[in-house]
Amino acid sequence: MFGKQLGEGREGAVYRLGNIFVIKLYGPSISSKDICMAVDYQNRASKTGASVEVLTSGEGFTIMSEIPGCHLLDLVKNQGFLSKEQQHALIDVHHKLETSDVYHNDADNLKNFMWHENQKRFIIIDFGLSKDRLDMVKDDASKTRDWMTWSQLNWILYRLFPLLYRCNKKYIGNRQLIFDDLSVLVEEILRLEELVDCSKCQVNAIKHNTALMDLDNKKKSV
Ligand SMILES: Nc1ncnc2c1ncn2[C@@H]1O[C@H](COP(=O)(O)OP(=O)(O)O)[C@@H](O)[C@H]1O
Ligand SMILES: [Mg+2]
Repeated sequence: MFGKQLGEGREGAVYRLGNIFVIKLYGPSISSKDICMAVDYQNRASKTGASVEVLTSGEGFTIMSEIPGCHLLDLVKNQGFLSKEQQHALIDVHHKLETSDVYHNDADNLKNFMWHENQKRFIIIDFGLSKDRLDMVKDDASKTRDWMTWSQLNWILYRLFPLLYRCNKKYIGNRQLIFDDLSVLVEEILRLEELVDCSKCQVNAIKHNTALMDLDNKKKSV
């Protein structure tokens, strides 16, 4: 009935539907209420250009346009790098997301960022774990728009470092090269880090990888 399977994840599987649409079929563990909330967040994000609109949803499924391209994990695996333009595009889509006040909250998974091949831009998908930043900030004043973008980009960078390290022999023993090749992203995260309180965060991609780099250098000098 459906076309080719395009992907799957924590919540379900996504299939081609005709030539321009996809259908996401949710697993039985995902409630209708959770689907409704995810649709709501995605449609808010699509209004500010950070996602694509959910066109129809029902019992256990959603339908949206197909994004021609691949996700960020495959993009980096295939290319072996993330170009400066693509780093700018990743920052760009997050500034679009900021204005929707939707905290995506699943940037730990690089498969949730689709690279639109023709439009040369990223589109964020999968709002199953999303939260309303305006609710979060009521309990915690540090949850600003800058914090939201910092948090997302920090998770992405945290996953990109080891991925690039594995993809490229040139990086072995020289993590500084990864910092150099991701300089656009690193600079934006450092800029935001000055503006936000990230003391309660689980990971800090830049500090973590700087520590690994220092360890490499110590080993070399012994
Ligand atoms: N609109 C879309 N166009 C093209 N591929 C998509 C689209 N939505 C999802 N996919 C593919 O399906 C995968 C899983 O979708 P996702 O919504 O993240 O499901 P899950 O919630 O199970 O993680 C994505 O990583 C992507 O490869
Ligand atoms: Mg997903």
